[in-house]
Amino acid sequence: MPLNVAIQMDPIERINVRGDSSFALLLEAQARGHRLAYYTPDRLALRQNDVFATVRSLTVRDTEGSHFALGEEKRVDLKSFDVILMRQDPPFDLAYISATHLLERLQPTTLVVNDPAHVRNAPEKVFVTEFPDLMPPTLITRDLAEIKAFRAEHGDIVMKPLYGNGGAAVFRLAPQDVNFGSLYDLFAVTFREPWVVQKYLSAVTQGDKRIILVDGEFAGAVNRVPAADDLRSNMVRGGAAEATQLTAREREICARLGPPLRERGLLFTGIDVIDGFLTEINVTSPTGIRAIKRLGGPDIAAMIWDKIEAMRKG
Ligand SMILES: Nc1ncnc2c1ncn2[C@@H]1O[C@H](COP(=O)(O)OP(=O)(O)O)[C@@H](O)[C@H]1O
Ligand SMILES: [Mg+2]
Repeated sequence: MPLNVAIQMDPIERINVRGDSSFALLLEAQARGHRLAYYTPDRLALRQNDVFATVRSLTVRDTEGSHFALGEEKRVDLKSFDVILMRQDPPFDLAYISATHLLERLQPTTLVVNDPAHVRNAPEKVFVTEFPDLMPPTLITRDLAEIKAFRAEHGDIVMKPLYGNGGAAVFRLAPQDVNFGSLYDLFAVTFREPWVVQKYLSAVTQGDKRIILVDGEFAGAVNRVPAADDLRSNMVRGGAAEATQLTAREREICARLGPPLRERGLLFTGIDVIDGFLTEINVTSPTGIRAIKRLGGPDIAAMIWDKIEAMRKG
């Protein structure tokens, strides 16, 4: 049965068609005959207890430059949709949090993927601390004395924003690095939140593995190897995508995360693993599924729609 699907995402004219996971989900939904509507988060409105948005019908095509066509604007009650994909990119700030509060009102009439209340409660670099034995030594603070003590213990460290993404402002500080004081000051004036201090994992040069779980089950993976002159493996920072298999440790990590992810309605998640250490659980708008398919891996968009269709039937 065709579903009425709306996607809440960033402006579709600006996406990178080749790499965008939201776009892969749209192509697959359209191929299955589902009806698509599109809006950006700034078109949301909560009036009394009803959530409206001004949406436009959407058709997609896998051709950069002419990848979408939109219909007329129409103001609709979002409960008229069977499924809403919440897919705008971070920053995970109060604008993001506000959107989760609004979309939460639609459940259970409308299935929102991922579950907005649980997205709000699982900031990617905080959620991971619920699994301390799977992660590298990590400190979340803005307290100078705490950071100095951690640095004295671990020597080589990374400092990065707690709510960052795409590799922005991720720094490595070698044991004798004299820039530590200035970098601390810069972080302290730039961020109001605490930030992440983590043991530097030297095997990052072999890659940071993105593993996708669909409803808590392993679905596919891609290894991202940083450029020779950069710490960061993110594909938007020039990290090279390569096909990969899971190690025993990585299978164990997936098995541990599966049940909590499923319980929380976090249907489409991407975890990051460096040298067997879990560093992030991405729940907002994970990427990687187009790269995985291009490298000969499974069609994860199809797996996600199989799951959504089953949930809407059940
Ligand atoms: N502890 C670490 N050791 C080595 N490299 C790291 C570490 N933390 C982050 N990096 C590098 O920086 C990149 C981005 O960091 P990450 O924690 O994934 O934040 P983001 O949310 O910005 O992707 C990683 O893909 C990896 O290449
Ligand atoms: Mg990352």
